[in-house]
Amino acid sequence: MDKSEQDALKKAAGIEAAKLVEEGMVAGLGTGSTVRFFVDELGRRVQEEGLEFTGVTTSRRTKEQAEGYGIKIVDVDDVDHIDVTIDGADEVDRNFDGIKGGGAALLWEKIVATNSRKIVWIVDESKVVDTIGRFPLPVEVIPFGERHVLDRFKERGYQPVLRLDTQGQPVLTDEHNHIIDLHMERIDHPRDLAEDLITTVGVVEHGLFLNMVDTVIVGDPNGPRIMTNSNK
Ligand code: A5P
Repeated sequence: MDKSEQDALKKAAGIEAAKLVEEGMVAGLGTGSTVRFFVDELGRRVQEEGLEFTGVTTSRRTKEQAEGYGIKIVDVDDVDHIDVTIDGADEVDRNFDGIKGGGAALLWEKIVATNSRKIVWIVDESKVVDTIGRFPLPVEVIPFGERHVLDRFKERGYQPVLRLDTQGQPVLTDEHNHIIDLHMERIDHPRDLAEDLITTVGVVEHGLFLNMVDTVIVGDPNGPRIMTNSNK
């Protein structure tokens, strides 16, 4: 699949997801290239249909885009609940275990998701996999002492790589932390791995989102397809 085909599928999933945001709702707005299409469609609805809702964003990038459309954005701590959060994902398997954080926004994404009544992911079909892990698993770490965290991960065979920007500097998250990507190729025991990562001192959060999502909207050449998680 080339990039323009993939973008068409992402856009179709984004447009479908925008139908889930209704008048007066509090909606969590995710991050990434698929979410950009979703927010574009919400912006169209706000401007052309007069839709009014409140958004909580998972990154500064999404906040800027949404506010550009006149969407009201508030802080996650300013709302009692979030009705639905719509976000992208890097991989998802048939048990609804997924990887997120390719765009370095996993920490805010997990906080918003955890406080949402319903979580919806929008992906193109290439992201639905049998086993997660081919996409490098992002882990957000505090810069202080990160070399030792890298060493620990190396010892455990996680194949860690500190994520750098185009200038060769460590990528900074919205919380001014760094990202270590684990090139594991496959993750057969995601719950054990999640426990190991979150109990490593210096780790803030990891990109394993295990059985958190309720619905996945998959951009498919035959039209958006819905995967419903009945085990949540
Ligand atoms: C951001 O940190 C991520 O979790 C994104 O939601 C994920 O990487 C999907 O991004 P794309 O829609 O750009 O593929």
